[in-house]
Amino acid sequence: MCGKVKLGLLVGGNSAEREVSRASAENISSCLDSNKYEVIRCEVPEDFNAGWIKQLAQLKPDIVLSALHGGSGEDGSVQGLLKCMGIPFVGSGVEASAVCMDKSLCKTIMKSACIPVIDGILIKKGSNISAYEETMCRIGFPLIVKPNRGGSSLGITVAEDMEQLKAAVKLVFDEFTDDALVEKYIFGKEVTCAVLQGEKGPEVISVLDINRKRGIFDYEAKYVDKDWSGGISNLPGYMQDTIIGIAKKTFSLLGCEGYACVDMILMDEQVYVIEVNTLPGMTAKSLIPNAVKALGMDLGSFLDRLIEYKLR
Ligand SMILES: Nc1ncnc2c1ncn2[C@@H]1O[C@H](COP(=O)(O)OP(=O)(O)O)[C@@H](O)[C@H]1O
Ligand SMILES: [Mg+2]
Repeated sequence: MCGKVKLGLLVGGNSAEREVSRASAENISSCLDSNKYEVIRCEVPEDFNAGWIKQLAQLKPDIVLSALHGGSGEDGSVQGLLKCMGIPFVGSGVEASAVCMDKSLCKTIMKSACIPVIDGILIKKGSNISAYEETMCRIGFPLIVKPNRGGSSLGITVAEDMEQLKAAVKLVFDEFTDDALVEKYIFGKEVTCAVLQGEKGPEVISVLDINRKRGIFDYEAKYVDKDWSGGISNLPGYMQDTIIGIAKKTFSLLGCEGYACVDMILMDEQVYVIEVNTLPGMTAKSLIPNAVKALGMDLGSFLDRLIEYKLR
């Protein structure tokens, strides 16, 4: 392509991760080579009104890079819109985005392909929790409760007993207007595997150890705490090979494109996939930018690679 690439950078959106999106967009903008790209920031409003779609249609970007996280930005809706508009975009398409956003559905698909996932149940919004008490007791406390379509660890509670569990499920229903995913809480080592789409299939950028300071890798650790909360994994080679194999298999199975992070927990050398992020955080504190840095690359070249791959 001659001249600069006109790149639409989507930011904001209608999810609770709006502010994270702003921080991701800021970091992405600061890394993109201004000799190569004309970056046009495209603000996706909280109420999702159609003005931004008109702006995008007028803009006719050569490619879209999305800094949106969660909500319509990550669940396949925006991907479907871009597809209908004929605008190429970096990252996963409609189906993979929709599946990965729905943690419970994603687990069902992974389980069917023998990818190990953690035992749990989905409680549909508004249903009577009492009907699930027996199953939850069978799985055994502590249990973790998450908004099924959430992100950034928002709305997650570790419940030690039935009373805490009921409050946690209620929080998901009322504050996050979502179904509640209840899982066995695993006291294991947490890792994330950053996967990139390569010419010959998925490639792993690196396996990252997560430092869980407070029981879960929470919002503060992800975005507020000063240090990075992660590092290039120091697990033995054979464990990393297992993790890499599972991450690649997961990426391919779900039809992910561009890049994704596969979150996992290890217990007794068993690896469980907890979720797949198709639009992982790109803030200066996030895992992918730091993994890229730790490997001696810069985020700008990493993004170049993704953009060039798509434009080819
Ligand atoms: N079953 C589990 N056992 C222990 N910790 C968990 C479990 N599921 C999630 N977590 C913790 O909660 C964090 C957020 O959960 P995750 O499912 O990745 O949701 P999010 O989309 O909000 O990142 C994880 O990074 C991990 O620290
Ligand atoms: Mg996660």
